[in-house]
Amino acid sequence: MTTPTGSSAELQAIAAEIEACRRCELHKGRLNVVPGAGPAEADILFIGEGPGAQEDEAGLPFVGRSGQLLDELLQGIGLHRDVVFITNVIKCRPPGNRAPHVDEVRACRGYLNRQLAVIRPLLVVTLGRSAMELFVSRGRISEIHGQPRYGDGMATLPLYHPAAALYRRSLQSVVREDFDRIPELLAELRQRAST
Ligand code: URA
Repeated sequence: MTTPTGSSAELQAIAAEIEACRRCELHKGRLNVVPGAGPAEADILFIGEGPGAQEDEAGLPFVGRSGQLLDELLQGIGLHRDVVFITNVIKCRPPGNRAPHVDEVRACRGYLNRQLAVIRPLLVVTLGRSAMELFVSRGRISEIHGQPRYGDGMATLPLYHPAAALYRRSLQSVVREDFDRIPELLAELRQRAST
């Protein structure tokens, strides 16, 4: 069974349910479920769109090209993937890496909500439109990327998906600049949480 690395018993229980999930058609084509990976104590939770071919094979999120770029972006701000939690809107690979359908997002939403409830991150970073739409009801990603939204005990930072920067080179500096905001934002959130 695929288990999230370094996780608590609750996260493992959620992963076990995802492993057995048949709530949408995507279970038919998967090699592995991709529940997510990272410590339950993570202050930052990254949410991508859905697993691609390499993630489906490995049962781990962001291990392909987008994942390499994500690792580099994390390294650029002094972080490593081992200290953040990384997951996706949907936990099974969609055929041809298409965007998730509404019914698939709906079927999977409970798992993400429960992961959020266990981890209770200070900062949720959404990568791309599918993840952004779960948290932000209005606005285009081109207009609101890099602008944090403060909620009750948790902020959300909508960012472009790393794959967008791979396809559109002009976005690479934008994505890096947005990532560069994370350390200061996190320091601010930690400060707020401690007062
Ligand atoms: N793209 C995603 O959105 N998620 C992954 O896990 C890999 C690529």
